[in-house]
Amino acid sequence: MENKSINLKKRPEGKPSLTDFEFREEEMPEVKQGEILLKTVYVSVDPYLRGRMRDEKSYIEPFGLNEPLESGIIAEVLESKNSNFRKEELVTGMLKWKLFQSATGAGLNKIDKNLAPPTVFLGVLGLTGITAFLGLEKIGKIKAGETLLVSGAAGAVGSVAGQMGKIKNCRVVGIAGSEEKIEKLKKDFGFDDAINYNTSPNLKKEIREKCPSGVDVYFDNVGGDILDAALVNLNKFGRVINCGAISLYNNTEVAVGPRPEGLLIKNSILMQGFTVRDYLKDFGPAINQLSKWLNEGKLNYAETIVDGFDNIPKAFIDLFEGKNKGKMIVKV
Ligand SMILES: NC(=O)c1ccc[n+]([C@@H]2O[C@H](COP(=O)([O-])OP(=O)(O)OC[C@H]3O[C@@H](n4cnc5c(N)ncnc54)[C@H](OP(=O)(O)O)[C@@H]3O)[C@@H](O)[C@H]2O)c1
Repeated sequence: MENKSINLKKRPEGKPSLTDFEFREEEMPEVKQGEILLKTVYVSVDPYLRGRMRDEKSYIEPFGLNEPLESGIIAEVLESKNSNFRKEELVTGMLKWKLFQSATGAGLNKIDKNLAPPTVFLGVLGLTGITAFLGLEKIGKIKAGETLLVSGAAGAVGSVAGQMGKIKNCRVVGIAGSEEKIEKLKKDFGFDDAINYNTSPNLKKEIREKCPSGVDVYFDNVGGDILDAALVNLNKFGRVINCGAISLYNNTEVAVGPRPEGLLIKNSILMQGFTVRDYLKDFGPAINQLSKWLNEGKLNYAETIVDGFDNIPKAFIDLFEGKNKGKMIVKV
């Protein structure tokens, strides 16, 4: 069998390009006693990987140059010399961008193929769903009757956050980048209204019109100008959940925007960033609740599944062009 890896050849400057990545032939791994041989089946590509491509101190180690990248992966056990795993089982966890790799099993979770299609464990029942759930629960603390505004609303995190707002009987307005996504938010995800930030002539005004009682909770996936437009529409005691800032991830200089402190003070607004790993001990209950909603038909999800190991870098880059609806996944 032929093995291959995808390595970080160059740290991207600005938007990542295909030339930042390098494919390399690899030996088939040797499987030692206590190890398993894994075949990559589905690969999650995520905006935060862009941060790991910078040589900067962060909450997670940067990727090494000329080393394989890694992300959330679903893999099949091809061979097992570890009594905890059986051939043909599916596992998920942080794994390398390689066709085949050996592992000890540490940090890997088994997937029950009969419970749900395996890809949901990279999306709605995986890190992105959990992020939406815990961001809203721990920071947003939304209450029935409040207005929730969500940016990046048609993406993996945003689509779950918005639906959760509807489950909690809030008015939910989404912001996304195309008419097709605006329609999807209203039709498939039950948002009350939605705004296309690419065509809106005045985003601040449009948020005000679509959130007539003001915004109580803003779930921010994108940062930048959209955050600025949302902030001026926040109600007294509003909460801003800083989940992501994809609009800034490719900046080569620190962005300078409006200074929000006056607004925050005047309106007693809470603005809090988080990384989902801050709440590791809450993952179990979050997954249980999300699974329950999924089974009850209260939660819908979308996936954009791209075919082929060689398309992993392109699928990752396409996140910055909004080519995905829901979770972006590569099927190997
Ligand atoms: N805090 C945490 O622990 C945590 C965990 C997971 C994810 N995140 C963050 O949450 C955000 C969403 O992640 P995800 O995995 O669900 O990705 P996603 O929303 O499924 O995909 C990214 C989306 O971002 C939008 N986008 C790209 N460039 C943009 C720009 N310049 N301005 C506005 N929107 C832009 C695109 O949609 P449009 O077509 O609408 O532009 C694209 O589809 C990311 O910022 C990510 O880093 C944080």
